[in-house]
Amino acid sequence: MKIGFIGLGNMGSAILNGILQKNLVTPDDVYVSRKHPENAKSYASQGVHVFRSNIDVAKAADILLLAVKPNILESVLEEIRGALTDHHLLISIAAGWPPERLLSVVPENVSCVCVMPNVPASVGAGCTILNEKGRYTPEQMDMVRQIFNSVGTTALVEDRYYSVCGALTGCSPAFVFEFIEALCDAAVLSGIPKPLALSLTAEMLSGSAQMALKTGAHPGALKDRVCSPGGTTIEGIRALHEQGFHAAVMEALIRAIEKGKRL
Ligand SMILES: NC(=O)c1ccc[n+]([C@@H]2O[C@H](COP(=O)([O-])OP(=O)(O)OC[C@H]3O[C@@H](n4cnc5c(N)ncnc54)[C@H](OP(=O)(O)O)[C@@H]3O)[C@@H](O)[C@H]2O)c1
Repeated sequence: MKIGFIGLGNMGSAILNGILQKNLVTPDDVYVSRKHPENAKSYASQGVHVFRSNIDVAKAADILLLAVKPNILESVLEEIRGALTDHHLLISIAAGWPPERLLSVVPENVSCVCVMPNVPASVGAGCTILNEKGRYTPEQMDMVRQIFNSVGTTALVEDRYYSVCGALTGCSPAFVFEFIEALCDAAVLSGIPKPLALSLTAEMLSGSAQMALKTGAHPGALKDRVCSPGGTTIEGIRALHEQGFHAAVMEALIRAIEKGKRL
């Protein structure tokens, strides 16, 4: 496959690094556009083709990963429209772009899918939501899966679940980083050096997530396994309830979902 990247910021470069590391493509099969090509020297030195123009990328590649900010996606699609053919597959990762919106602006003979990756993709631990709705062949969806499996896991969901699942996995890493920072601050306040606090917190979170995944147990049951009667942890749980932790986290995701509808 010949794959082009339009937009090479946080997500575009994470996905490009993943497919190169997993040898899904050779650098010679990759085309990227940069307003300032000197900003892609490390890719160019590996053999990736670096163009100034999005249209040149669209002409050279069969698969186009659209990784620009949501507010400029429409103008980028307008710009490359003349270069699109029925051989192309467009993959949009833009927040606030469900399939009906993408399908309404992409020419009818051009395949397209909507996917929502997340930032842990940059360390190969992403969780990408793929929307079932779109215009694609089974072989094209298989390629999409391969691309995003190279930076983590993928889940194919029905269109009606896409926006919420995308916000859950796409936005929540920021909420988790906020949680990590709060735990570290409390540890630092209690005299622990920040680097030690950070590594212990991250390991603890990773282990807790593994436990939730591997056991499939209800999170309340897992919580109960830590809370001894009359012990230290249940004191902390009481504080979380007093401070509105559960409601605050729910509200954070609900607001992210609502904002996604207004983009
Ligand atoms: N970050 C996340 O956690 C995350 C998660 C899920 C989905 N997404 C989606 O991923 C997309 C990209 O987000 P991001 O965080 O990677 O943003 P980003 O880091 O700001 O990257 C955007 C890229 O687009 C480039 N660009 C701007 N205008 C362009 C144009 N006209 N033609 C070609 N390239 C252009 C920018 O280049 P310059 O820097 O040279 O301007 C930059 O490389 C968004 O649609 C977002 O909704 C992001």
